[in-house]
Order: sequence, then structure tokens, then C-alpha cells
Amino acid sequence: MSQNFNIAEMRKFAGLNEAEAELLSGMKAMLDKHKDALVKAFYDNLDQHDHLRNLLDAKPGRRAILGQHLAAWLVSLATGTYDEAYKQRRYVIGGRHVEVGLDPRWVVGAMSFCRGHIGPMLEAEYASAPDKMARALALDKIMDLDLNIMLQSYDDKRMDLFLETTGFSKSLFESMISSSSGV
Ligand code: HEM
Repeated sequence: MSQNFNIAEMRKFAGLNEAEAELLSGMKAMLDKHKDALVKAFYDNLDQHDHLRNLLDAKPGRRAILGQHLAAWLVSLATGTYDEAYKQRRYVIGGRHVEVGLDPRWVVGAMSFCRGHIGPMLEAEYASAPDKMARALALDKIMDLDLNIMLQSYDDKRMDLFLETTGFSKSLFESMISSSSGV
């Protein structure tokens, strides 16, 4: 569990404020309504890449369960409370992708893909609402926060694996990096 990632600090840094958290919690119904279409599009997109399709089909039933996980993830963007428990859940999701050997660029790309589907959802539900832009920005910020946590998980987990395999201590490794960079 990352000690470095303070979600309150990162929220403040990105400017995800309470008014936006409230806006997000009001979009649960929208995300719920559109989740099945997004899940389908998400897996259709992954299926275009042999190694991703193989990963999805590596275990019987995995694809169906993953679809449920992804749908739940989407709706939970509108949880409204973005605290340590929220961070921990995202951290575990990131860690699971490290365990299955998925390079992080695919997670980044997949988030971008999801983002591309959020625009039309907002258009369908809030086309003429004056706060449409504010809603889009709030969703952007929470997706960035999710990605940030997942990537932190990659960083930590990969570092732990490296240290475990080599027997290096973290401080030795960090001092090697800083001396090689000359800083
Ligand atoms: C926006 C990006 C993504 C999100 C939000 C997401 C979401 C999730 C969630 C919620 C889980 C369940 C984690 C758990 O067991 O606690 C999961 C697991 C998994 N995801 Fe993703 N995912 C993303 C991208 C991808 C991509 C690009 C692939 C490529 C094939 C992928 C493949 C998998 C696999 C293989 C598992 C493990 C399934 C298992 O435990 O059997 N995910 N994902």
C-alpha cells in the first residue's frame, strides 16, 4: 500500500473540490444508464489486439466477470467520496493489472478510450444544461485521479518485484539512481 500517495493532497493539487464531488455524485444514474454500451465498446476495442484478447480469454468466465467489474468501476466514479478507501480500491485495481502482466500504456490508452465515451453520454443527458462543461471537467478530474492512483500502484508493485528479485534495498537503489543522474 503506497504511503506516498495522499489522496487528499492529490485532489487538492488537481483542484477536485467538494462542489465537483457533489456534481459527480449526481451523475450516478447517467453512468449506470450508459455502462453496458461502454463495456461493450471497451471490449470490442480490446479484441482488436490479439495479446489483449488472449489475456481476456486466458481464464474461462474472466471476460464476463471483468465486464461486471468495469461497469461497477464506471458507476463508482460517481461515488462522491474520494477518500483513502476510494484510493485503496483503485490501488488494488492497478495492482491486479501488474499481476496479469499488462503494460501500463494499455491502461492509459483504455482510460482515454473511456473518456471518449463520456462526451457523448453527457451530450445525451445534459445537452442544454448550463453546467454541462462543469460536469465534463469533474469527470475528467476523477478519471485522471483514478489513473494517477493506478499508475502509482504500477510503480510501487514493479519496484517491490525488482527489489525482491535483486535483493537490493530501496535506499541503495534510490541512491544508485540519483548518483547516475548526477543530481
Ligand atoms: C480504464 C482502464 C481499466 C479499468 C478501469 C479496468 C478495470 C478493472 C477492474 C475493476 C478489475 C478488477 C480488479 C480486481 O480484481 O480487484 C480489472 C481486472 C483486470 N483487467 Fe482491467 N481495467 C482497465 C484496463 C484494462 C485493459 C486495457 C485490459 C487489457 C486486456 C484489462 C484487463 C484486465 C484483466 C486481465 C484483469 C484481471 C482479471 C482477473 O482477475 O481474472 N484491463 N480491471
